[in-house]
Amino acid sequence: MAPLTADKISDEELDSFTTAVKARFGIDFTNYERKSLKRGIVRLISKQKLGNMVELWTAFLRNREMLVLYIDELLVNLTELFRNPEAWQKIKYHVMPQFASRPSLHIWHAGCSTGEEIYSMTILLQQLNLLEVTRLTATDLSEKALAEARQATYPKILWERYKNLLLSYDPLLGIRLDQFFEVDKKSFSILPALTQNINWQKHNLVQDEHYTDCDLVFCRNVMIYFDEALKMRVLRKFHAALRPGGFLIIGYYDMLPEESKMLFKPYDLNTKIYQKI
Ligand SMILES: C[S@@+](CC[C@H](N)C(=O)[O-])C[C@H]1O[C@@H](n2cnc3c(N)ncnc32)[C@H](O)[C@@H]1O
Repeated sequence: MAPLTADKISDEELDSFTTAVKARFGIDFTNYERKSLKRGIVRLISKQKLGNMVELWTAFLRNREMLVLYIDELLVNLTELFRNPEAWQKIKYHVMPQFASRPSLHIWHAGCSTGEEIYSMTILLQQLNLLEVTRLTATDLSEKALAEARQATYPKILWERYKNLLLSYDPLLGIRLDQFFEVDKKSFSILPALTQNINWQKHNLVQDEHYTDCDLVFCRNVMIYFDEALKMRVLRKFHAALRPGGFLIIGYYDMLPEESKMLFKPYDLNTKIYQKI
């Protein structure tokens, strides 16, 4: 039998699957972008060596834990340290100086995946002497990603890549990675001092209450999987979560709906940094 591909899953099949997942597990994928969700389902089916969506659904019914364990196949957790370094330069030299004299700061990383984004931020905060006054809320829907994020240990194979990436941005970012990580033969781990002010929470952006009093909200490469209506719902939450003049930082491939212009104005379009209106 030919392997299942995303284009063989019909919209009707997808709808009945997402409706059933919502009813049984309370996780709402109904407004996720269809193509990427279908690709996620195909990844899951092939990893589980199943034949089709009916078999996938039967497997979920037999084993309630399976959706929690394999949700990452549906979600795509890809991330990296200092992803899009130009954005981090903008944050370090243009955004953060505006908060330099503030006695306290709150930053929400929505969809933090395995932690690289939040550790990039704590490194910058440490460099700017702002780490002690900053509370960081790190949230994701995936428990597996959050567990890895808390662990804060990454395979050594990535070390040289990150070092070279940052070297190519020196002296602008001015980051010496070995000051912030412990490196051993197989892995490297963030120093515990850089993890003190992080509050990790399992949180579903679609269904859960937003946080409050935020100065910055990061939501990078998460909304690409949402349709326009869902993006607006989530953007309203970010708007309400931010303090006046607070910043929203999205991913390079994230596109804000036209309607969101009432909520956010561009601060720097190249690096996708916006400011609350
Ligand atoms: C591609 S990663 C982005 C990680 C990081 N922000 C970055 O840009 O490198 C997307 C993350 O969004 C999370 N995610 C997807 N839907 C979500 C939802 N409804 N609520 C919270 N997190 C969600 C996924 O679990 C995944 O870890």
